[in-house]
Amino acid sequence: MTKTYHVTTGGKLYLAGEYAVLTPGQTALIKYIPILMEATIQANPDYQLSSDLFDYSVDLYPDKQYALIQETVSIVNDYLVKLGHTLSPFRLRISGKFEKNGKKIGIGSSGSVIILTIKAMAEFYKIHLSADLLFRLASYVLLKRGDNGSMGDLACIAYEDFIAFTSFNRQKIRKLIAENELLTVLTADWGYQIRPIKVTLPCEFLVGWTGTPAISKDMIELVQASISSDFLEQTQIVVEQIEQGLKKADQELVSVGLKRAGQLLEKLHPAIYSKTLQELVGATKNFTAVAKSSGAGGGDCGVALTFDTKSSCCLIEKWQQAGIELLWQEVLA
Ligand code: PMV
Ligand code: MG
Repeated sequence: MTKTYHVTTGGKLYLAGEYAVLTPGQTALIKYIPILMEATIQANPDYQLSSDLFDYSVDLYPDKQYALIQETVSIVNDYLVKLGHTLSPFRLRISGKFEKNGKKIGIGSSGSVIILTIKAMAEFYKIHLSADLLFRLASYVLLKRGDNGSMGDLACIAYEDFIAFTSFNRQKIRKLIAENELLTVLTADWGYQIRPIKVTLPCEFLVGWTGTPAISKDMIELVQASISSDFLEQTQIVVEQIEQGLKKADQELVSVGLKRAGQLLEKLHPAIYSKTLQELVGATKNFTAVAKSSGAGGGDCGVALTFDTKSSCCLIEKWQQAGIELLWQEVLA
């Protein structure tokens, strides 16, 4: 009987540092969200890839819908060959789309699919991949595809942790990819930093879903030209404040920092704060809580930190009244 291997992976949400982190050297705080996607993999006479997003499966013959998974398989295959493995075909099944009522919830599905595919293949070939190598391989896939993101989502999902991610120069690594072979790229110094954040501040992390999907790629194209050096400087300061506050249990530093991070985004571009996201933030008034948009904005999710249980309950109720659904709730410390 052929053995079936199971792997899982989660999603992510930005707490602070969005858009700024698109510029190399800037930092964002990104929270791992353990809402899971699953994959099974087993030996098969031919390649057979399937995802519950689609009602058909494919082999390695290029298919537009399956391009992300197929390109990931081909890059990991390249990696395996370079390590001296003999390739053998498999059946890979992916399930657990990040959706509610048929709408995407915006917690990082494309990044998760890449990480999931790499993890499944690593299980199948019995190779150990560190979180860091997982991040590099996944970034390699997206950089090769010409993705315009910071790769912060991949860092968070690969590390499965609440992280501070300081971004690398993607232009430079793209050039490295174009001019060098895979192993050289994977072992080069990319210049990023990924630090897990150990929260000691007693607080709860809440995620509110607006019910309106937004496409990060389009939002980036819209907002990018508005990113100024002033925005970058101010954002870096508040991101560092929030990280320190969370680590050193300084509630004031965290509250003020998050509020300011939200205001900086609001000022950056009018498309970021949709009406529902404004309501999501406004709902914290009168509670010991602070909220802001998460990620690219324009819809998807907002995040909040609450500092007592009463505030959590009241905020969730207020969100409900505004048609905002609680997607995730977690005590951070
Ligand atoms: O909306 P999300 O969760 O995909 O986050 C996007 C965050 C940006 O900084 C706007 C883009 C990026 O890749 O860093
Ligand atoms: Mg989003």
